[in-house]
Amino acid sequence: MQARTFEGFSVGKNGRLTIGGCDAVLLAQRFATPLYVFDETRLRANCRDYREAFRLNYPSESRIAYAAKAFLTLAMAKLIKEEGLSLDVASAGELFTAMSARFPAGRIYMHGNCKTQEEMTMALRYGVHRLIIDSEQELIQLNRIAAKMGKKADIFLRITPGVEAHTHEYIKTGHLDTKFGIHIESGLALKAVKSALALKNINLHGIHAHIGSQIFDLESYQVMIEMVFAFLKDVRSKTKKVFGELDFGGGLGIRYSQEQHPPSVADYARVISRTLGQISHDLDYPLPQIIVEPGRSIVAEAGVTLYTIHYVKKIPGGKSYVIVDGGLSDNPRPALYGARYRVAVANKMNKPANFPCTVSGKHCETDRLFQDVNIQTPQRGDIMAVFSTGAYNYSMASNYNRYPRPAAIMAANGKARLIVRRESLGDLLRQDL
Ligand code: LLP
Repeated sequence: MQARTFEGFSVGKNGRLTIGGCDAVLLAQRFATPLYVFDETRLRANCRDYREAFRLNYPSESRIAYAAKAFLTLAMAKLIKEEGLSLDVASAGELFTAMSARFPAGRIYMHGNCKTQEEMTMALRYGVHRLIIDSEQELIQLNRIAAKMGKKADIFLRITPGVEAHTHEYIKTGHLDTKFGIHIESGLALKAVKSALALKNINLHGIHAHIGSQIFDLESYQVMIEMVFAFLKDVRSKTKKVFGELDFGGGLGIRYSQEQHPPSVADYARVISRTLGQISHDLDYPLPQIIVEPGRSIVAEAGVTLYTIHYVKKIPGGKSYVIVDGGLSDNPRPALYGARYRVAVANKMNKPANFPCTVSGKHCETDRLFQDVNIQTPQRGDIMAVFSTGAYNYSMASNYNRYPRPAAIMAANGKARLIVRRESLGDLLRQDL
């Protein structure tokens, strides 16, 4: 008989959720709640799926640069290093974390639409593989800094391809109203390429484009690649420049709720590879090395947040509120984006989920974490599990209401290890004067 599973995690005979072979209730007891738990085996498998999908489908070289913004700690940087992926960082803090984990500089891509002088200097000093440049002004600033340091900066230019994708649809427009990248239509992108080629301390290797996040419609990638190549064709005819590297950003969607069916990584790799193969053939453009920057689709579904249920409040009119010991500060996504998640009572997984309620957090706001969900009948002391919280939860956490941020652990083969210590009340005073 097959063991029961829920969202890809197994459920023990005692009805308890297990993550990485560890009993979720015991994890909550040992490490306290709220707690970010990562299934390390699943995380590593996601990394391998990406590498494998592009190795099988794309006939030239490919690099998978994990987008650190989704979730980065020293342990995560080390895991990404071990899995042979590259790393996309977008701030001094993410770069510093990578450097502290001795992440190879030759596999780091540095983003950011407002890189400071300090960030550029740090990136050049460490020798990051590529800096992704967001505007001509930034290009000139980088050239100046590189010249001062006696270095040549290796860069991509980020262009705005005129495609904006949202989960199930995309829009195609020549005039995107966005702060990111350099517009093609207005001629600014071509001008920036020409400047980059002329600047002494700049080495322009390729072009970068990113069309959004939580994307389900693979056609939007196809359209983006077509728009990028229309630009590359123009660049080639006006400057003779042919690029050997192209970076198509991240954005592949994941499953947050039962109704969602995101495309597989293999399908994503197939669409990108097929489109590139066709276009490069049609335009007689040599197949470039490609880079993709997945964040969410590597880490989100490998993460589960555990809370303790403290109160179950029935309000006149019949609605029930289940109050947990976390909220806005460890997961701001419901408040920010109206994000929905799958939730369950981790110690009652074999009971029917027929208790309608809204799960709320402990903050001085409405703090509705999970609205109108059905869970197993909750009681004080039960452990609540929230699925697909691996991406943009820890990385977007705050100390609102001066709550210390939760701990994070990795679980694999029945063993759990702490990767981020829970903040203490003392930690909250560390920077106060
Ligand atoms: N590359 C670039 C240039 C990006 O801006 C992003 C995400 C990624 C890669 C990774 O995208 P992913 O594969 O994770 O979708 N805080 C929001 C998500 C913001 C994403 C920003 N850029 C959220 O919680 O949904």
